[in-house]
Amino acid sequence: MDYDFSCRTALITGAASGMGFLTSKCLRESGANVVMLDVDEKTLTEKADEISADRLVCDVRSYAEIEKAVSYAKERYGSVDITISYAGGCPSRVLNAGKAFNDLPIDVLDWGVEVNFRAPLYMARAVFNIMREQKRGVIINIASIDALTGSGAADYSAEKSGLYGLTRSIALMGAKDGIRCCCVTPGPVLTRPAMANMRTPMGRAAEVQELVDAVLFLCSDKASYITGENLTVDGGRQCGASGGY
Ligand SMILES: NC(=O)c1ccc[n+]([C@@H]2O[C@H](COP(=O)([O-])OP(=O)(O)OC[C@H]3O[C@@H](n4cnc5c(N)ncnc54)[C@H](O)[C@@H]3O)[C@@H](O)[C@H]2O)c1
Repeated sequence: MDYDFSCRTALITGAASGMGFLTSKCLRESGANVVMLDVDEKTLTEKADEISADRLVCDVRSYAEIEKAVSYAKERYGSVDITISYAGGCPSRVLNAGKAFNDLPIDVLDWGVEVNFRAPLYMARAVFNIMREQKRGVIINIASIDALTGSGAADYSAEKSGLYGLTRSIALMGAKDGIRCCCVTPGPVLTRPAMANMRTPMGRAAEVQELVDAVLFLCSDKASYITGENLTVDGGRQCGASGGY
């Protein structure tokens, strides 16, 4: 599907890598102003240069940094039309803790709550009034199949499942002012080769583009009557993680 995102400004967290980067690239190609946000300055600079996108180093654990990024986009481009919160991941993996939930250091637990759950909450808080004034805006949260099925990473599952309540609530609050809020729940996505080992009824993990396509659809006017919804993109994994395939 071809999209026209010209005259739209998108803020994307976790934009230096994986789905965040490919989404930034697709939005740029469809005419959007894109402000890529990431904490990894070196990769962010390389990736933003690659697609001629704007960028800002932003640690999403800080409300002040998120607010600064939102203000920057609004001042520079005149509106903030789309936000997508990709920054995150399973804390024990990202921080190389190598421990089960019940033995995880508390700072690892805290990182997960701050990045996977609190940052999307901060982002919604930071853009809501601007979008309400514009009478337009789309807020996308990125959950995980682990939120639907539960997992050994109780912290990660809990943080991501919190995004469903956030999504529905922001959708309710924003509906009369043209703000839509949706969640996308990925199953395994090949942003890392190891994701190919996760089982799905389809017998494979998703290509990154398959996930990004779902996000682009929800960001677009083709999804103008969809809000408060979660779109699961998981090759059927939610239908029964325990077997039968
Ligand atoms: N890849 C999968 O199979 C999969 C499955 C389910 C859900 N998800 C979720 O999708 C999202 C994107 O996954 P991915 O595999 O594309 O990620 P990725 O690991 O490729 O990229 C994550 C990006 O977030 C950035 N980041 C980390 N901490 C940050 C912070 N404090 N502030 C700003 N940026 C920060 C990193 O620098 C990195 O560039 C994540 O939230 C993840 O939990 C991924």
